[in-house]
Amino acid sequence: MWKPDRHSKKPLYEQIADHLEQRISYGEFPPGSLLPSERKLAEQLGVNRSTVILAFGELRSMGIIESRPGSGTHVSKYKWGAVPKHTPNWKRYAEGGSFLPNLPFLRRIREALQQNPDLIDFASGELSADLSPLGEITELMGAQPSPSYLGYDHPQGYMPLRQAVASYLDRYRGVQTTESSVLITSGSQQSLYLITQCLLSPGDAVAIEDPSYHYSLPMFQSAGLRIFGLPADEGGIRPEEIRSLVKKHRIKMIFVNPNFQNPTGALLPDDRRGKLLEIASELGLPIVEDDPYSLTDYDGLDRPSLKSMDRVGSVLYIGSLSKIAASGLRVGWMVAPHSIVERLADARQQMDFGLSVIPQQVAARFLESPYFEPHLERLRMQLRLKRDLLIDALHQALPKLIRFHVPQGGIHLWCQLVPEVNDAKLLEEAIKKGVVFVPGSVYGSDSGYVRFTFGRAKAENIGTGIAKFAEALRALIR
Ligand SMILES: Cc1ncc(COP(=O)(O)O)c(C=O)c1O
Repeated sequence: MWKPDRHSKKPLYEQIADHLEQRISYGEFPPGSLLPSERKLAEQLGVNRSTVILAFGELRSMGIIESRPGSGTHVSKYKWGAVPKHTPNWKRYAEGGSFLPNLPFLRRIREALQQNPDLIDFASGELSADLSPLGEITELMGAQPSPSYLGYDHPQGYMPLRQAVASYLDRYRGVQTTESSVLITSGSQQSLYLITQCLLSPGDAVAIEDPSYHYSLPMFQSAGLRIFGLPADEGGIRPEEIRSLVKKHRIKMIFVNPNFQNPTGALLPDDRRGKLLEIASELGLPIVEDDPYSLTDYDGLDRPSLKSMDRVGSVLYIGSLSKIAASGLRVGWMVAPHSIVERLADARQQMDFGLSVIPQQVAARFLESPYFEPHLERLRMQLRLKRDLLIDALHQALPKLIRFHVPQGGIHLWCQLVPEVNDAKLLEEAIKKGVVFVPGSVYGSDSGYVRFTFGRAKAENIGTGIAKFAEALRALIR
């Protein structure tokens, strides 16, 4: 809540008048609306009533407000004086545009975390500070030569990073590519945005896993796409089901997250990968392989990417540093045929002239540094430890009330609650107890499912967090 600054040279009444004028001009008090009384405002701002009277006088003299005996003080309908001028209706503008707002549950979680940073966070899909290579990155940033030029770079991305990504993909994902087929993006999220905005048209139908991270993105609806779910079990989607979906809805593209899927943690078995590629090539359908988690495999196994098995060029591959290093770097990549990369780089130029060169330099150095491999090993070990802590805590706090499959990589655990409870009530109760999670319906499932992310919470808080969640659940099923 704003308060006037008692140490400022500007008199209190002037500060208050300026503050009110700003709130009025931003549309918080629209023309004709009633302002709080002088007494109430004085109480709120911690000043004498006489100071507020002075401030009101100031605004009245500018024609911004009007006081009528017996009916309080109103914002003038012609508030800028003799010539009628109206504040734009910002609220209506804020509701305009083609970009839909985030899902209400996700907004509620963000708001709860902002209001109470002590909440134990099983909701944010990222790594905790101790899992990120902060020391290594700080050192690499310090070792950067001072830049000789900081003009606009190529919108496709900084060349040394494209080269580093090409060699990373060869080494870790079996993908043979060159820097001309790599587009640097501001994370996988931007790759998805570019694909939905530039390669698809309103009305196009796309298939996604059900449940899926992609359900949580109003970005698909904002682009006017029709989305259809491919039911997924512990092994991910059953590729044969694509055929009937294509027949019914003329699917244009398939989005999959085959390694330690968000939210289920599922790993698509090799035979299903082969089948998926076979069906896609038979139908001439492109597949977007969204692959942020593969390198978190706790056993360090190199599971083949779809892209590495793709003989006909059906796969657009996207990845990022978010889940294996630091989400705040906002560095991601896409591998695609050159015509697609050119098209998307051209769009990047119109949108933002490409990603800032500085995080790209840091990312290139990190990927090529001797720190990368030991960091991955440490990350895998610590994620396995956190997963085990979470599972032990769930067994202890909620025996028989919860079912899950144990993920072999990634940062998410997908749980079914045995007595089905209302998602919204459970989330509110959990927030009250001091913990947040994401209700499964955000990812397209029925209520009664929960996604616990164990990447973000501190290891020492996992047991307490689950105990709080158990209290919340029990309060609802009592
Ligand atoms: C499957 C999947 N794709 C894409 C993203 C976006 O990640 P980023 O833009 O940070 O790379 C996420 C983040 O949670 C994800 O889980």
